[in-house]
Amino acid sequence: MRASLSLLAFTCALSGRLCVAQTPRPAEDPRPSAPATEQEVPALKKVFEDLFLIGGALNRNVVTGRDAAGAAIAVKHFSTATAENDLKWQLIHPQLDRYDWEPADGYVAFCEKNRMVAIGHCLVWHSQVPRWVFRDDSGNPLTRDALLARMKDHIVAVVGRYRGRIQGWDVVNEALDENGALRGTPWVRIIGEGSADKQYDFIEHAFRWAHEADPDAELFYNDYNLEVSRAKCDGAVAIVKRLQSKGIRIDGVGIQLHGGLGYPSIEGLEHAITTLAATGVEVMITELDIRTQARGYRGADIGKVSRKSTSDPGAASAETQKKLADKYAEIFSVLIEHRKEISRVTFWGIHDGASWIGGSPLLFDRSYKPKEAFFSVVKASRERQY
Ligand code: G3I
Repeated sequence: MRASLSLLAFTCALSGRLCVAQTPRPAEDPRPSAPATEQEVPALKKVFEDLFLIGGALNRNVVTGRDAAGAAIAVKHFSTATAENDLKWQLIHPQLDRYDWEPADGYVAFCEKNRMVAIGHCLVWHSQVPRWVFRDDSGNPLTRDALLARMKDHIVAVVGRYRGRIQGWDVVNEALDENGALRGTPWVRIIGEGSADKQYDFIEHAFRWAHEADPDAELFYNDYNLEVSRAKCDGAVAIVKRLQSKGIRIDGVGIQLHGGLGYPSIEGLEHAITTLAATGVEVMITELDIRTQARGYRGADIGKVSRKSTSDPGAASAETQKKLADKYAEIFSVLIEHRKEISRVTFWGIHDGASWIGGSPLLFDRSYKPKEAFFSVVKASRERQY
C-alpha cells in the first residue's frame, strides 16, 4: 500500500491538510427533500478524503472549458483525473514523426491548476493505435525488434514529457481475453513471435521503459471484467507475478468496473479486489460507470457498442434511477469495506451527456444535476463505521 499512501499524501499535501484517522460518522440521509442547492451537494473528494482518491475521466471539452459546467463538477468533486482519450497513441502520436502534444498538455495543466492527481491513460493498447505502428515503410509487418524499438520511442517520449507531472500510468491496457490468456493482438503476435516464452515480452518491456522514463511514476496494468471473470482476474494476477518475479516495477492493477444494473455481484467484486491485492499491489477502480440498458453487450469495447445499442428510453424513469442508486450504493459499500486495498476510484466521465455508453450511467445527469445515485454514494460513505 506504499503507493496508495503516497497518492493520498500527495493530495493531502496539495490541499494543505493532514490526513487523520477517521472517527465514526453518524448515519444520515444526505438526500435533500427539495432540489439540491450547491451547498447541499457535498464535494465527493471531501466525502472520501480519508478513504481513497476520487476522480473522473476528462474529455477535451472539459479541459478546454467548452464544457464549463462539466469542468465545474470536476473541480468541485475530484481529487484525481484521467484523460479519457487525449493520451492514447492515435491522438498523441498520430504519425511516425509527429506528436500532437497540445490536448494532453492542456489536460496535465488542468490537473495541476485544480490540484488533481493526474493519471496517464494509456501507453500500450490494441485499440486506438494507428495501423502504421505495426508496419514498415513498405506496408509489411514490422519485425519484433523494430516494433520493440517503436514502442520504446513512444513510451520514452510520452512518459518523459510528463515526468514528475503525471503521477501514475496505465502502462498496458486490456491485454487479456475473458479466459485469462493474452489477446491475440499485433503486440503479442509480432513481439511474441509465436513463442509461449516471448508472448509476455511486450508487457515486460513496456513497464521497464515507463519506469526508466519516469522512475517516480506509479505503473499500472488496467483491464475490464476482472470483477466478472475469475479466469481473467487470474490472468491479471499472472501478469503482476511475472513482473514482480523479474524485479520489474508494477504498483497496481486497475479494475475498470464498467458495470450494469445487475452486475457485478458483490462476491465477484470482492474476489477481484482481494485476489489482486494479495499480490501486494494496490487496487484501483479506474473507469467506473453503470450502464442502464437492460440488454446488450457487457464489456468495454467501443467497437461493440453503437448509437442503437446504447439508446435507453427508460433511462430517466424513477424505477431505473432507483436501481442505479441501489447498485452504486452496493458497489460503494464494497469499496469502502475494502478501503485499505483501494487507492483510487475514478468514474468514466463526469455527466451522462458525455458518457461513451449512453443511457444514464454516471452520478450527474445531462443537466449536470446530481442524481439519486450521487446521494446514495454519499449515504453509503456515512453509513459505514470506519
Ligand atoms: O476525435 C474524433 C473526432 O475528431 C471525430 O469528429 C469524432 C467522430 O466520431 O470521433 C472522435 O474520436 C472519438 C473519440 O472517442 C473522442 O471522442 C472516437 O471516434 C471514439 O471511438 C472514441 O471513443 C473512446 C473509446 O475509448 C475508444 O478510444 C471513448 O470516448 C472512451 O470513453 C473509451 O474509453 C475506453 C477506455 O479508454 C478503455 N476502457 C474502455 C473504455 C470504454 O470503451
